[in-house]
Amino acid sequence: MKVVDLRSDTITQPTDAMRRAMCEAEVGDDVYGEDPTVNRLEEIAAAMLGKEAGLFTASGTMSNLIAILVHTRPGDEILLGSEAHILWYEVGSASAVAGTNLRIVPNDENGSMDLDLVQAAIRPEDIHFPSTTLLCLENTHNRCGGAVLTPEFTTAACDVAHRNGLHVHLDGARIFNAAVAQGKPAADLTAPVDSVCFCLSKSLSAPVGSVLCGSRDFITRARKKRKMLGGGMRQAGVIAAAGQVALDTMLDQLEKDHANAKRFATGLAGIPGIACSIEATVSNIVMFSLPPHVPSREFVDRLREHGVKLNHTSRKAIRAVTHRMIDAGDVDFATDCVRSVLNEFR
Ligand SMILES: Cc1ncc(COP(=O)(O)O)c(C=O)c1O
Repeated sequence: MKVVDLRSDTITQPTDAMRRAMCEAEVGDDVYGEDPTVNRLEEIAAAMLGKEAGLFTASGTMSNLIAILVHTRPGDEILLGSEAHILWYEVGSASAVAGTNLRIVPNDENGSMDLDLVQAAIRPEDIHFPSTTLLCLENTHNRCGGAVLTPEFTTAACDVAHRNGLHVHLDGARIFNAAVAQGKPAADLTAPVDSVCFCLSKSLSAPVGSVLCGSRDFITRARKKRKMLGGGMRQAGVIAAAGQVALDTMLDQLEKDHANAKRFATGLAGIPGIACSIEATVSNIVMFSLPPHVPSREFVDRLREHGVKLNHTSRKAIRAVTHRMIDAGDVDFATDCVRSVLNEFR
């Protein structure tokens, strides 16, 4: 049976070139800083994001937590969007491990936040208050349907934060999607933030890993936090090699993924009863919702029986993510399946 897996770009498997590079990688003990392949990946990633240094980590979740640990102290308060990945899907690590208080600012549909609300949420000095020390942003924005933050918004948000003594961390799990979607170098989107991480294991197709980037001093401190979390990985060049190939070869793929997402959104928008915004589909994530009488969990289960795998993100909303292993024919197949499964609920 044909299977079209649109649950996430994390299901992408390493390319043949990545597997070869992994096999041939020159390695050393990375905890001693002696793995040349990891060192090179960290240098390349930092240069691409316009930062002084990088740190290879096991995952986006680990990178975000390390950044929070470096930028804050237990009891500090973090400002983040109401739809932030850090808030929804990182097992509460900012509170459980870093001991921080989370203060939520509503996300607009485009992943941004009202900067007046950000300013208002920053606590003044008061003996009763936690200190607000960090603002977290996300680009592209997962729960906001792959929306992209513009450099102008990021700069304005950083201005507010920096003026008030806060640092800014950018969860850029899909920052290269954001860059391709705006036709700009990734470094243009990351210039004003103090730290940024991105994932190698999502649309870039590498099997494992994320790179956290920032100033040399920030990365020195981050390296120690990584060790504390058990993330010192020894001969990690074996996996970092795939990450290098990902950065070398996969960026062209992202434009195709975005075109396929747009194609899917266009197909879905043409199905009576489905709400899907074609204009809001700007990267590789497509969000759509069902008519009120159709429960999304059951809909997703039925679609799977037809060979199409999607994720529901709430009672009504469903998410699809395009990636290297999806072509235009797969998207059309998925559109036809959505149409016929919806008919089963009439
Ligand atoms: C925006 C965002 N940040 C962070 C992560 C976490 O990445 P990982 O799954 O590598 O921990 C994800 C994963 O989907 C994500 O979408």
